[in-house]
Amino acid sequence: MEKKHELVFATRNTHKIEEARAIVGDRFAILGLDEIGFDLELPENGNTLHENALEKLRTFVEATGRNAISDDSGLEIECLNGRPGVHTAHYSGSRNANLNMLRVLSEMSQCTVRTARFVTVLACNFQGKEFIFEGDVQGVITQEIRGSEGFGYDPIFIPEGYNQTFAELSAQVKNTLSHRAIAFRKLAEWLVSVD
Ligand code: IMP
Repeated sequence: MEKKHELVFATRNTHKIEEARAIVGDRFAILGLDEIGFDLELPENGNTLHENALEKLRTFVEATGRNAISDDSGLEIECLNGRPGVHTAHYSGSRNANLNMLRVLSEMSQCTVRTARFVTVLACNFQGKEFIFEGDVQGVITQEIRGSEGFGYDPIFIPEGYNQTFAELSAQVKNTLSHRAIAFRKLAEWLVSVD
């Protein structure tokens, strides 16, 4: 089927771009920032995931006028009052995934309630109108690092209904359950209504 619309995904993460392509399907061409030669940094100065997703989206749309999507994700842990939340990417002060997980596990050493959720906020500007799609996956935080698949906090997160961490489950299983996949499926359902 012919691709009618282009949507620029305001990211340089090729893994995310592939994931979005797989879910949004053939009707929309998903382009990354590098593919369109956009080389400015997009700001992420918000206090919430929503603010960050919208700030990146609006900066990009103001600069280019193109239809676009932008996302921001985080891990919210009940016993830590929702932290790391908007600070998920560099909770330890760096982007190092092991250091980030170790900080979480150490802050949770006294936590008996270990429930948490991953959440993705996906912001879309289509023909001048903004839309927000949210996906989340509930689960629990382990006592220790387990598994080697995936990235980020996958080795300490067990999704609800499973006994293995995201890093012990296959990518295929994770990608059907994940917060990002859920948000993208909502976007895909909405895009079906677009001519
Ligand atoms: P981003 O907004 O997608 O870049 O996500 C921010 C941070 O959240 C990442 O740097 C990761 O540390 C963490 N994160 C997001 N999604 C996942 C996931 O699916 N598994 C594990 N960690 C994630």
